[in-house]
Amino acid sequence: MHFGTVIVVVGEPQVPCIFMFGDSFVDAGNNNELLTLAKANYPPYGIDFPQGVTGRATNGLTIVDAIAQLLGFPNFIPPYATATSAQIASGVNYGSAGSGIQDQTGSNQGMVISLRNQILRHAEILVRLALLKRNIRFTKQYIKKCIYVVDSGTNDYFAYFRNGVNSTYTPDQYAAYLIKQYSDRLKFLYQLGARKIAVFGLGLIGCSPAEITLLGTNGAPCVEPLNNAVKLFNERLEPLIDTLNNELYNARFTFINISNFYAAPDVSGLSKVPCCPLSPKGLCVPYSTPCPDRNLTFYYDGFHPTEFVNRFHASRSYNAASPMDASPYDISHLAQLNQDVGYHIVL
Ligand SMILES: *[C@@H]1O[C@H](CO)[C@@H](O)[C@H](O)[C@H]1NC(C)=O
Ligand SMILES: *[C@@H]1O[C@H](CO)[C@@H](O)[C@H](O)[C@H]1NC(C)=O
Ligand SMILES: *[C@@H]1O[C@H](CO)[C@@H](O)[C@H](O)[C@H]1NC(C)=O
Repeated sequence: MHFGTVIVVVGEPQVPCIFMFGDSFVDAGNNNELLTLAKANYPPYGIDFPQGVTGRATNGLTIVDAIAQLLGFPNFIPPYATATSAQIASGVNYGSAGSGIQDQTGSNQGMVISLRNQILRHAEILVRLALLKRNIRFTKQYIKKCIYVVDSGTNDYFAYFRNGVNSTYTPDQYAAYLIKQYSDRLKFLYQLGARKIAVFGLGLIGCSPAEITLLGTNGAPCVEPLNNAVKLFNERLEPLIDTLNNELYNARFTFINISNFYAAPDVSGLSKVPCCPLSPKGLCVPYSTPCPDRNLTFYYDGFHPTEFVNRFHASRSYNAASPMDASPYDISHLAQLNQDVGYHIVL
């Protein structure tokens, strides 16, 4: 027997682990070593992050970092690319900037890890975890108690609008097509033992400065066709969550309504001018000087909110301030649900 490990408990998190899937709103460094243009691993990204530049596409914490803190995790959840065996039991971040629900989304930027491939990596991590714990039944029970957050689809919409909205799919058909694929991915995650799954709706991405520059607004404050297309997606995602909860035994999916947070007085008055100088792709110019007070602007670059906004979005996801923020549960309630109810565990 090996008794050598000293575990310093700095306060117990509310759930044993958290696994994160998605795009650049989630990525904590998985793209750094990939041959891709979708990277944020240079200054001034990370200027307010304790470890500086990591690949996070903001000045400090991402929304999922902030959610993990609210759940009581004392350390940042490591990216899959660098996660050690000692770290994986408290969770892994699989996010990949530029990726989407469709496998091909982001491939024009080089190599990115699609949502499907992120879930395949999760399957591999679960095998590693079961070997470490040397107990498959324990591991199956353990991973049911964890929280899973999934935030994907933004890049699928960017791709749709880059190609020009055309007759291949109407916005409504495109939303239906993406939701069908999303449904398959989420069921796959459930089959791998996930039970408490928070799925993020898409934000008002037509208001991001880079999209406004690229697509134009015809005098409106935001790119309305893009926001309208995203709304069709969100309107299908919320009922999908209800369907999955009804169809899958003991599933506890929840829809987090990011779009609903934009009008909140806490963030609606922030400057919409990006904090850093933008490259033609809408990312920060490498080694440029960002705005001095990052708490006063909504966007850090042309697409991504500042830590200040990420923290606010996380706090509303965690503790809903309105019934429209999260349905059926906010993340604090999701954490408290008992996933063993209904199971007869033979000991
Ligand atoms: C639709 O978009 C695709 C991809 O960019 C393009 O190849 C095709 O010609 C477009 N079709 C129409 C009718 O504009
Ligand atoms: C910005 O907000 C964070 C919390 O989100 C706070 O810790 C920090 O002190 C604020 N910075 C300034 C300059 O106000
Ligand atoms: C999500 O928020 C939007 C924007 O406020 C709102 O129109 C919509 O009804 C909300 N969705 C749900 C399911 O509450």
